[in-house]
Amino acid sequence: MPSPALPGALIPLQYHYHMLSDQARLGAFQQAIAAVVQPGQVVLELGCGTGVLSFLASQRARKVWAVELLPEMVNTSRHLLAQNGVADRVEVIHADAHDYLPPEPVDVVICEMLHSALLQESQLSVMRTFCQRYQAHFGNLPRFLPEATLLGVQLIEQQYDFAGYHAPVPLFRQADSLDEHVRLRSEAQCVLSLDYRQPLPASMQWAHTFHIEQSGLCNALRLITKHLLAILPDTARSIDWHSQYLHWPLPKPMQLQPGMKLTIRANYAAGAPVMALTQGLQIEVH
Ligand SMILES: C[S@@+](CC[C@H](N)C(=O)[O-])C[C@H]1O[C@@H](n2cnc3c(N)ncnc32)[C@H](O)[C@@H]1O
Repeated sequence: MPSPALPGALIPLQYHYHMLSDQARLGAFQQAIAAVVQPGQVVLELGCGTGVLSFLASQRARKVWAVELLPEMVNTSRHLLAQNGVADRVEVIHADAHDYLPPEPVDVVICEMLHSALLQESQLSVMRTFCQRYQAHFGNLPRFLPEATLLGVQLIEQQYDFAGYHAPVPLFRQADSLDEHVRLRSEAQCVLSLDYRQPLPASMQWAHTFHIEQSGLCNALRLITKHLLAILPDTARSIDWHSQYLHWPLPKPMQLQPGMKLTIRANYAAGAPVMALTQGLQIEVH
């Protein structure tokens, strides 16, 4: 019997259209799968949802093991994979990805339980326990897709006025979209990098000090989450995808002045609900 997952980590059917129709997301995964999965290989997907990434992998793989915990998504993916003509190569397993091991060694593991700032979903806990169990059972780790995740932070001024009503609330923005409601108050700084083949932390802990050079109002942080889906050593480039930017309002807006230093410290559990940032982010001016 599968063990209970984190609340919010399981994603019911009505949220999958958004993921399927996100061209930046699906296009990046499609390219990465084509670059990484070699003809005849065996692939494991942890958290298959509708089965779309397993379908893409099955265009090259001999066999895809696709794991999903939510019963309605197990049924949906089985049905859709059959309709798309790949049920002979993709086997959907109802299991918790924290416990599951495939019956044979695999060449590639795909896991997209990725959310802004690695909140809300189970990527780190799933990958951490998977690596331990897989290594103990089969030895060498397979290739992972994504291979790594980088977290960044940027100072911004976000417009929070709505019909004359001021309401500084957290918001999600499509990465790299033009946004006239935002002014950038610093460069984006990389604060944490996580390589899925290395031991992974249980909590997201980082600190960064901004040395302010220009004056301006800062009332929010932009949290940037970039996933290196596939690193291609031959061409010295990677196929990347960003989770949505998370704009997190500061408890009090700050007037930045040249010479000021602003330290941001983060400490929250990976996979925690988004509102854990209320306690999980500290700002110090000095
Ligand atoms: C972000 S969705 C991605 C779905 C699909 N891979 C895609 O790219 O469209 C993550 C999926 O993982 C499933 N999931 C979350 N936690 C899980 C767990 N512990 N074990 C198995 N599946 C899980 C969710 O129900 C959801 O379908």
